[in-house]
Amino acid sequence: MGVRTALKRGFDRVERPLDRLFGPDWNPMANLGTLSWLMFWIVTATGIYLFIFFDTGVVNAYQSVKWLSETHWLHAGLARSLHRYASDFLVLLMLVHMVREWAFDRYRGKRWFSWITGVPVIWFVYMSGITGYWLVWDELAQYVALTTTELLDALPFFAEPIARNFLTPASLSGRFFTLMVFLHIAIPLLLLLMMWIHIQRITAARTMPPRGLSVLTLAALVIVSFAMPAVLQGPADLARFPSTVGLDWFILGLYPVIDLVPPSVIWTGALLFTVLMFGLPWLPPRKDKAAAEVFLDFCNGCTRCEADCPYTAITMVPRSDGAPFPQEALVDPERCVACGICMGSCPSSTPFRRSGPLITGIDLPGRPLSKLREEVIAASADLAGPGRVMTLACEHGAAAAPEKGRVILPCVAMAPPSLFDFILSRDLADGVCIAGCAERECHNRVGAQWTKERIARTRDPLLRERVPRDRLLTLWAGPTEGARLDEALAGFSKDVAALEPMPGKRSLETDATGEEDPR
Ligand code: HEM
Ligand code: SF4
Ligand code: SF4
Repeated sequence: MGVRTALKRGFDRVERPLDRLFGPDWNPMANLGTLSWLMFWIVTATGIYLFIFFDTGVVNAYQSVKWLSETHWLHAGLARSLHRYASDFLVLLMLVHMVREWAFDRYRGKRWFSWITGVPVIWFVYMSGITGYWLVWDELAQYVALTTTELLDALPFFAEPIARNFLTPASLSGRFFTLMVFLHIAIPLLLLLMMWIHIQRITAARTMPPRGLSVLTLAALVIVSFAMPAVLQGPADLARFPSTVGLDWFILGLYPVIDLVPPSVIWTGALLFTVLMFGLPWLPPRKDKAAAEVFLDFCNGCTRCEADCPYTAITMVPRSDGAPFPQEALVDPERCVACGICMGSCPSSTPFRRSGPLITGIDLPGRPLSKLREEVIAASADLAGPGRVMTLACEHGAAAAPEKGRVILPCVAMAPPSLFDFILSRDLADGVCIAGCAERECHNRVGAQWTKERIARTRDPLLRERVPRDRLLTLWAGPTEGARLDEALAGFSKDVAALEPMPGKRSLETDATGEEDPR
């Protein structure tokens, strides 16, 4: 088993109990990006509040932090602790989010954009934190200032060594300190810009956790802040170097290494890390599946595919073929990951069509609807009654391995609801199981949600009323939940075997005669 598979299965195992504790929507592991955004806003709000009390001059900075922490501990001290702990949590969330996106393979090929824009985010988060520590102007700040400036001086950018500012009490100018204050505001603003760019190729990216999870997280941070208020170390004294300082391991965890290793090694390491991170989406290079293709003869410009595509790969443009519709869909092949979700949302995607070749408004060249229709017909031949269950499976979930009676899809939302109807009404199976990936987070972001809404008839294309719901099973299960899948399938097979025969079924042979379907 490769590192990625092991890690992916590890995440899945850890996240399953959290599903039971929080529910799939509130699962913190499925909310790492949204929680990171929340942390950013908490840090911003508390930072603005702290500035009311903070003296930005080098002489009084320490006293003002001491005063706000001790005299005004209930609000300003709390804001300071929240500022600190939310920053720490942001670092932790960001790193786990990054590793998880890697493990779940959501960064390669056409999905490179969020990864690449995430790399500068890492640096901006660290720089924001480091400049913040500097401002308190206690012994830790002094240590951070000296270590950082010595590291920066190893670069050939500065005419004069900036570490000189910290040689003696007289050498530190108020202006230099003001520059640090400015940087501590400017860098987080750049971070915000980068975070915004980070989600630009994601349709309706979620930037807020569910309200309940936000309240819980904030409450936990407040409790930690009261239980362990952020400490202040002794005042900075440039006449002597602090012998021991308490470190914040989240933001300053690498500082002991910087102390030990020559700056050239640190910079080379940082550069290599950054280059490697930028290269990862193409290491190793892989051949992406062909992008979705629009067939204008079957496109009425309804915009459903544009709304449903998770990766902003579809735009609506003025009609180009003279058909009496104002718009048509246009696919950006650079953004299309071939998830097939658009095919599932197009009103022309109906396997029932009998006249002419089966083409839809938007189709996957590598896996067109016509082929999918053939695949379900072929899968049906492998099933034997009673209780024949056909599984339409997500290739990232528990049912990803090929098996008889199973059709594996890049995303279950690729299957239009009319396909479930087709399977049941043409007697290809007695029941259909839609086996998606883990409910807490769909590999293609919204496939599970769209599927549920289509079946519940709250999102187009609606599942027809005539489809008996007791012959449909939706099961959301991650890669380590094979046993749950098998159990659910066995139970479902028994249930459908016990049902009254389905009325109005007709065979594919009857279809071939051209006789109208009376239903
Ligand atoms: C402050 C730090 C970060 C924040 C706030 C953040 C936030 C987000 C959000 C909100 C999403 C979209 C979730 C959705 O609606 O599907 C996302 C996706 C993603 N992020 Fe981040 N992120 C951060 C850092 C990073 C870093 C450091 C990396 C990696 C270098 C990264 C890589 C990704 C990837 C690969 C995706 C998935 C894109 C896709 O689905 O195609 N993120 N992030
Ligand atoms: S297959 Fe369709 S839904 Fe999926 S990324 Fe491509 S255009 Fe978007
Ligand atoms: S869903 Fe189909 S019909 Fe509607 S705009 Fe997209 S391709 Fe055209």
